[in-house]
Amino acid sequence: LDNGLALTPPMGWLTWERFRCITDCKKYPNECISENLIKRTADRMVSDGYLDAGYEYLGIDDCWLEKTRGPDGRMVPDKERFPSGMKAIADYIHGKGLKFGMYEDYGNLTCAGYPGVLGNERLDIQTFVDWDIDYLKLDGCYIEPKEMDAGYPSFGKLLNETGRSILYSCSWPAYQEDAKMLPDYGSIAEHCNMWRNWDDIEDSWASLTKIMDWFGDNQERLAKHAGPGHWNDPDMPDYGSIAEHCNMWRNWDDIEDSWASLTKIMDWFGDNQERLAKHAGPGHWNDPDMLLIGNFGLTVDQARVQMAVWSILAAPLLMSVDLDTIKPEFKAILLNKDIIAVNQDPLGQQGLRVWKKTDRGARQRLEIWNRKLQDGSSALAFVSQRDDGIPYAANFSYEEMQIAQGEYEVQDFYKDEGVRHWNSEQDFEVRINPSGVKFYKFIPKTSRATSDAYASSS
Ligand code: DGJ
Repeated sequence: LDNGLALTPPMGWLTWERFRCITDCKKYPNECISENLIKRTADRMVSDGYLDAGYEYLGIDDCWLEKTRGPDGRMVPDKERFPSGMKAIADYIHGKGLKFGMYEDYGNLTCAGYPGVLGNERLDIQTFVDWDIDYLKLDGCYIEPKEMDAGYPSFGKLLNETGRSILYSCSWPAYQEDAKMLPDYGSIAEHCNMWRNWDDIEDSWASLTKIMDWFGDNQERLAKHAGPGHWNDPDMPDYGSIAEHCNMWRNWDDIEDSWASLTKIMDWFGDNQERLAKHAGPGHWNDPDMLLIGNFGLTVDQARVQMAVWSILAAPLLMSVDLDTIKPEFKAILLNKDIIAVNQDPLGQQGLRVWKKTDRGARQRLEIWNRKLQDGSSALAFVSQRDDGIPYAANFSYEEMQIAQGEYEVQDFYKDEGVRHWNSEQDFEVRINPSGVKFYKFIPKTSRATSDAYASSS
């Protein structure tokens, strides 16, 4: 969306992944979606260096509303949890030099069951403008995915007409990608004796439990049925139109606080990169969802993987973590300024998964992610999805890494290693922890590497 905003991927903090829909402030005073949570997070974003590092948006996700609108038809923030009202919160946030993000849903209700905007679009936009918001995430529950192709653009147009600069974050494709995936099991059962429902099983406990989880999670719609056949909605989301009308958009599943969920999302973005990556650029970004870093589900190595891959994907960096209690090793990952610089690279070219190999089942999964940067250097992440034992060494050629031939200075973004000098005539050796990453900046030293790197980035 060409509205002058999000020229690099948006950075900030959002309530949902860590705080979800916790509304009982008596039981969980420190975690409920409330003024207290927002204000103490604003304080931390400033005092602990997050704002200086680039994290500028502070956003409230679902569960901030009263269940019914006011007598004038306007949205009403929960009276107990937001007693001062949203304008006061906005003033507090702006007073700290931060920007204010809000959440609504295009349908009749938000996903958690609070009033959605449908039928009240103009009034709700006016209310948001009265509250001085700077960012709006518009979710897509309780509305038909096919209605989004017209609905999200027309809502965006109204938003734009207000004259206030509001970053527009859409969930439009996430629901359309999802709708496409719902097979008609009634018909499938009628026409087949058996059918494969989901992913290939691999020779690992991770793969086995992933599949068990999926069948458990989907049992209500599966157990009663049978049969492949036709997809309900075979249309792919129209990413051209989405990029024209939104500053960022959630493409796919909600991220959950686990390595399984993180790798599932990474795999999906890698598998679909051909149709996704070309739509990213200044003003418009694919969004693989929030950062899990600092919560319960990822080790330090796994958190480093997410930061590396999100920076290569030119993904919005939206933290969702308790900034009062985050451990220093996770904070250091979020504040790594060299990695943030990769994410914020002004060229705005989304990187790709350029190589992957799965040997002897899923345990041997290695992959290389590569992003070209404006200064002619490249950021390369060597990711291991192995879960067996120890750090393993592996060697890669310049072709596997998809980097131009020549000599490079190689800097480790996580500073475990000193600077290396590497000539592409030799293989590049990396030693990666299981479910970890090695993340390097390759800076060309020869004119050949420099010009090739520029050529391949244009
Ligand atoms: C679904 C979205 O994808 C999540 O990020 C979150 O906003 C929830 N809805 C809130 O209900």
